[in-house]
Amino acid sequence: MPPLLHPELLATLEELAQSAPSRAALEEEICRRLAQLPHYDWVGFYWLDPADERMLVLGSFVGAPTEHVRIPVSEGICGAAVREAATVTVDDVQADSRYIACSLETRSEIVVPIAFDGRIVGELDIDSHTPAAFDPSERAFVEQIARLLADYLARHPASL
Ligand code: SME
Repeated sequence: MPPLLHPELLATLEELAQSAPSRAALEEEICRRLAQLPHYDWVGFYWLDPADERMLVLGSFVGAPTEHVRIPVSEGICGAAVREAATVTVDDVQADSRYIACSLETRSEIVVPIAFDGRIVGELDIDSHTPAAFDPSERAFVEQIARLLADYLARHPASL
């Protein structure tokens, strides 16, 4: 098991997830807090469009605004995470042909899917200006954060 990173932040966000008044509020707070970590230069959520499940739609984010507010599931690192139903970590985005550039400064990226009722409904996407920013420890942390959203949805299905 990789070492547990950012345990205090995780505990704070776990507590917030229990008391969050809405999914949007929880999303916003997670983005705001994660974006304060070193190397977490863009933090955001994408959700599958309920009217068109082949399309991801940008939710809350912190970082430079992106023109990619809708991403087809067939495209990008974001699409790959949905299609594979698994975390995708890219150490060097310029070497990955799937990559859709949101910022010229981005060097590495992690996308963690969020499941509800046995299917992927969204994802947590983090970009870094640092190459290979998301090692196995960092990945385990980001996966725990995405799990907070999945657990919130399980407790509040109407919030989806
Ligand atoms: N890089 C992503 C697109 C979203 S931006 O990172 C915010 C991708 O390749 O799907």
